[in-house]
Amino acid sequence: MSVNIKKDDFIYPYFVIDSRNKKKEIKSFPGIYRFSIDKLLRDISESRSLGIKKVLLFGIPKKKDSEASSAYSYDNVVAKAVKSIKKEFKDLTIITDVCLCAYTTYGHCGLLKKNTREIDSKRTLSRLADIALSHADAGADIVAPSAMAKKQVLAIREALDKEGYRHIKIMGYSAKFASNFYGPFREAASSSPKFRDRSGYQLNFRDSGRALKEIAQDIKEGADIVMVKPALSYLDIIKEASLKFNHSLAAPCHSGLASAPLLAAFNVSGEYAFVKYGAKNGLWDEKRIVFEIITAIKRAGADLIISYHAKDIARWLNG
Ligand code: PBG
Ligand code: ZN
Repeated sequence: MSVNIKKDDFIYPYFVIDSRNKKKEIKSFPGIYRFSIDKLLRDISESRSLGIKKVLLFGIPKKKDSEASSAYSYDNVVAKAVKSIKKEFKDLTIITDVCLCAYTTYGHCGLLKKNTREIDSKRTLSRLADIALSHADAGADIVAPSAMAKKQVLAIREALDKEGYRHIKIMGYSAKFASNFYGPFREAASSSPKFRDRSGYQLNFRDSGRALKEIAQDIKEGADIVMVKPALSYLDIIKEASLKFNHSLAAPCHSGLASAPLLAAFNVSGEYAFVKYGAKNGLWDEKRIVFEIITAIKRAGADLIISYHAKDIARWLNG
């Protein structure tokens, strides 16, 4: 079977700040910027004309606090961005990241129990649902919980359904590993944990069985898209998940069960950064190495690839 790379395969991530007239490159993340909403619209217009049809938004708030208040307030930065984008680009699929780490002073993906350093899973789930609803109200097409909180997909599905948002889809960050490849992202979102690390909720990379269970669980909870993250060091997980959960084994339509979910892979910031550093230092040809990497991720079985290379790939595909 030969692998064919198409523009439709890609989701392009954006970092958006609550400000005006700002477009600033991130130091450890060449070619990637934090955009204010006005500048974001311009860049999306460029992406759109290159043929990118799906974007993933990460919000960076003005203020962080212990309750992640600016993640779900009516005028949170992601909701504002979604509203503006929807007005101008009706046919763009907008996916929003739903998490707390960029919004909490302590940089973890969950809320804490009062006066402790322990994650409070109940409060975290209801906060994640509130964030997802605020994005849905603004017009998001797909919400993507990335907190690795148990039952996050179910909590969000129930909240969306209750508010009449059955048509809004969920992309679960299902198998998200406690990885060393997230460095540039954490600089971009200023979301590094201020104590301990994320190994309490993200997966141990020595264990593949757990990843497949997490994916199965997200599907059961109603995820429309499941994800493996990072991609390049986890091709075996992508392959296993695609064999186990993808189309071929989908429930037949008459069974009344939902159709098989799509499988996404997140080609993360650290994976992107070392391609860039190598290219800059003449170690390899950027276009060739990117196509090799993306081909490997698709060959392993990903239907969708979230990649910071997506704009360049679209440009290269356009010739
Ligand atoms: C956390 C989150 C992470 C990324 C996106 N959301 C990982 C983390 O900081 O633990 C990483 C994405 C990337 O590296 O490109 N909710
Ligand atoms: Zn997080």
